[in-house]
Amino acid sequence: MPQTSTNLPCNIRQATEDDLEALTTVELSATSIFGTIPALADLSSNHASPDQLRQWFSTGRIYIAEDNGKPVGYVSAVPMDAVLYIAEISTIPESQGKGIGSALIQTVFAYARECVQATKEQPRVSLTTYREVAWNAPFYRRRGFKEVDAEALGPKHVAKMTLDREERDLWRPGYTRCCMLWEEE
Ligand SMILES: CC(C)(COP(=O)(O)OP(=O)(O)OC[C@H]1O[C@@H](n2cnc3c(N)ncnc32)[C@H](O)[C@@H]1OP(=O)(O)O)[C@@H](O)C(=O)NCCC(=O)NCCS
Repeated sequence: MPQTSTNLPCNIRQATEDDLEALTTVELSATSIFGTIPALADLSSNHASPDQLRQWFSTGRIYIAEDNGKPVGYVSAVPMDAVLYIAEISTIPESQGKGIGSALIQTVFAYARECVQATKEQPRVSLTTYREVAWNAPFYRRRGFKEVDAEALGPKHVAKMTLDREERDLWRPGYTRCCMLWEEE
């Protein structure tokens, strides 16, 4: 069901398999913002592979934000350890700062509530991100996320942090990664 808000310059809906190809372009465009940070500038060519997107699609959900039918953002959320993990969130540069990222996060919160409806557990959403990048940890903190130890979330979160540090080379001088968690109050 498409979700609309009178203030938001887009519709948000669950992605279909046909949307996946376009999401690579969205992410590639979104990450160009990292070009403004010399130590992280190479991340502006980072994007999830088609296989990765298909895996997120089949194990969790992807929501797409569209402006007049044009994809302007997306978020992917997958169950990991005992929480819903935001694997990627992106808004294209021309649409950043208009509340689309915040709305995508709210959509994931609603999905997390749906996931625990039967068990009555507390909805929880996690992610891994940069502490020191303005549109990463500080942005999530203002949306209710708190920094937590990966160990507290489970072995897959620990493995993700290790992968980011040891294989993906995401740790840089002055730029560190952290795990964050949102829990329904
Ligand atoms: C993170 C991202 C999805 C946010 O999307 P968005 O549509 O711009 O989100 P919103 O408009 O709801 O909010 C943007 C927030 O980022 C902050 N922000 C955006 N650009 C910024 C910049 N250049 N410098 C400082 N803060 C910035 C704004 O202050 C705002 O937070 P606030 O409303 O609490 O003040 C978007 O910046 C993006 O795609 N970034 C590149 C990919 C990325 O880093 N993804 C996250 C990986 S963990």
